[in-house]
Amino acid sequence: MRKKDHINIALKDKTTKTSLDNYRIDYNSIPYFGISEVDTSTTICNQKWQYPFFINAITSGGEECNFINKQLEEVCEICNIEFFAGSYSPALKNEEDKKCYPKNKSINIGLDKNYSTVLKAIEEVNPKYIQLHTNPLQEMIMPEGDKNFENWLNNLKVISTKTQVPIILKETGFGMNNKTIELAIKLNLAAVDISGKDGTNFAKIENSRTKNPSPYLEEIGYTTAESLEIAKNYKNKIDIIASGGIRNPLDVIKCLALGAKAVGISRVFLDILINKGKEELIAEIKKWQEELKYIMILTNSKNIKELENKIRKI
Ligand SMILES: Cc1cc2nc3c(=O)[nH]c(=O)nc-3n(C[C@H](O)[C@H](O)[C@H](O)COP(=O)(O)O)c2cc1C
Repeated sequence: MRKKDHINIALKDKTTKTSLDNYRIDYNSIPYFGISEVDTSTTICNQKWQYPFFINAITSGGEECNFINKQLEEVCEICNIEFFAGSYSPALKNEEDKKCYPKNKSINIGLDKNYSTVLKAIEEVNPKYIQLHTNPLQEMIMPEGDKNFENWLNNLKVISTKTQVPIILKETGFGMNNKTIELAIKLNLAAVDISGKDGTNFAKIENSRTKNPSPYLEEIGYTTAESLEIAKNYKNKIDIIASGGIRNPLDVIKCLALGAKAVGISRVFLDILINKGKEELIAEIKKWQEELKYIMILTNSKNIKELENKIRKI
């Protein structure tokens, strides 16, 4: 029920303006090459992806949410983009949810879970990546949230030393500061997903579920652009993934120009799937794949590396 609530509330809130609107990418009146020369591939956690954007953790557990995941997985397969399912937590409690969780892709698990739980999940899913998500503010506002954070740091340390699978430390829409990124580097994590405060806001979602809301808490966190400006100082030490409020291919390009190696989308793609259906989502993703190339041509960038820094604040 909670997962379904999250989806319904998240979809009511459309992203209009974001921090990325304060940036302009390079535009060249004379393009130097044609579309067949553009390479959109990227490398994340030492794995090559054909496209630099992906569907980021949304949901799991329960018949309806598992069906959403199944459809998202199929869409990603057809479009040749990566799919990251939502939290593995429901599968830890329920055999049916376990069967429905995508195998050999990724697991998404919260930092409240200890190493033995993560190991169990790894054995069950055989993932290519682990997204360790962090969401303390959501837990604080969520009526049924866990308020005991004393083990989170230790869980992160133990999981990172004992696990061979590449770990992505993932925010959930509140952005990251330098201390969090430095910690991820110190622990030799493969990547951080800075998931900034520009799109889905779980403080807002939980405020609308509680009898005693505190709207001012929705202001806490860093925007996607703020987080990327911080993260770009570390891009040679850890892979940077951007997410939070991504609306279109231009936003993807802006994040890449600001130093991200890949960009995650949750709400915008979920919205299309729920309100228009799977075929529309496939068509939209294919359109994004084509238009990414158009924008790369306009910036005279043959590949993702050449996009770097071709952006300025306005
Ligand atoms: C309905 C919904 C459920 C989500 N569930 C998870 C989750 O289980 N694990 C997680 O790490 N992030 C979860 N997220 C957060 C997203 O992965 C992402 O970090 C955040 O929504 C910002 O991206 P967006 O603005 O594109 O939605 C969820 C987002 C939505 C909209």
